[in-house]
Amino acid sequence: MSKKICITGGAGFIGSHVVRLFVNTYPGYEIVNVDKLTYAGNLENLRDVENASNYSFVRADITDAAVMEALFAEHRFHSVIHLAAESHVDRSISNPIEFVMTNVVGTVNLLNNFKTYGNTVEGRFYHVSTDEVYGTLGDDGKFTESTPYSPNSPYSASKAASDHFVRAYHETFGLPVVISNCSNNYGSHHFPEKLIPLMINNIRHKKSLPVYGRGENVRDWLYVEDHAKAIDLIFHRGRNGETYNIGGNNEWKNIDLVKKLCEIMDRKLNRNPGESEQLITYVTDRAGHDFRYAIDASKLMNELGWKPTVAFDEGFEKTIDWYLNHQDWLDHVTSGEYQKYYEHMYAKRG
Ligand code: NAD
Ligand code: DAU
Repeated sequence: MSKKICITGGAGFIGSHVVRLFVNTYPGYEIVNVDKLTYAGNLENLRDVENASNYSFVRADITDAAVMEALFAEHRFHSVIHLAAESHVDRSISNPIEFVMTNVVGTVNLLNNFKTYGNTVEGRFYHVSTDEVYGTLGDDGKFTESTPYSPNSPYSASKAASDHFVRAYHETFGLPVVISNCSNNYGSHHFPEKLIPLMINNIRHKKSLPVYGRGENVRDWLYVEDHAKAIDLIFHRGRNGETYNIGGNNEWKNIDLVKKLCEIMDRKLNRNPGESEQLITYVTDRAGHDFRYAIDASKLMNELGWKPTVAFDEGFEKTIDWYLNHQDWLDHVTSGEYQKYYEHMYAKRG
């Protein structure tokens, strides 16, 4: 009998890559993608797998306890891979309660239903989380699995709370769980509120490029397909009750990354060298802006043999090419509500 795997948030950026990997790699799994289709969820991200015989989609809100109970009672999932979340730090500063609802209440709903209806003997609950739960680093050091939690934004506080609930369900109820905390992802299908796709979209329209503060903050970038492969490995071979850090060992200051992007896009768009860099505008910093993230992924590498397979130069070019070849996708997701969001978020930054 095939195993039914519930993937939440499968229509989002990382979720769509995870769904694609699982549908294509595991014909013996029935993948049920549960997603509310918020502004960040888009079924266009899954066109290539939507007709696969081992895939189905359910539009549902994980905060709705009754709907989740009916879904879990019907499907009796073998396992859950939980990615659904409100994921954007700036939005969490404007509207924290949405983050508490989806990221905390939604996660607890899933845990309760998996506990009651899931296969808690052979299956597991996999919670996909972020390195932001550890707070911020100075110039040195890296986050390990034993770094104390110290979340600074409403987003990271909500993710930290959800990680704690997942751990608590393991300790209190013996639920088989695993958690991973990953650094910044980049790649195709990334919603253009996040740094890289936002800058790509603005360069395309010759709009100003809003760099927060002095652009000195550092992020550790990982190609999204390498994250999906890590999730596959941890889901199948990670130890219950454990946490695994995932990162690219690839730190960039924001300003250096944006300048590199400008240079590559000038070349690809046949613009004069230096043309797009002129668009860079330093704007009011993000409140509580974490200075630096860097991940020590040695536990995952030593225990499960994972390593990133896509070099940054290659992944970055591929990513830029994807957006330039899918400008209809960018146009679609930036129509309507996005314009209002952009006005609201950036007009006040000056
Ligand atoms: P995303 O915002 O692109 O996608 C989130 C998905 O969740 C969307 O499809 C959305 O429709 C769905 N969703 C939101 N609220 C929902 C609800 N109440 N019910 C059901 N579905 C809902 O996010 P992402 O960047 O793909 O991140 C996915 C997960 O990975 C998140 O848990 C995030 O915290 C984590 N993560 C992201 C990154 C990153 O760099 N993007 C890094 C580490 C961890
Ligand atoms: O580290 C993992 C996290 O990475 C995930 O958990 C989050 O879901 C994901 O959104 C991401 O968070 P960041 O806040 O690091 O990503 P973002 O793309 O929003 O910003 C990256 C950096 O770029 C950050 O230092 C803020 C800066 N920035 C961002 C935007 C949107 C700018 O300078 N200008 C911008 O317009």
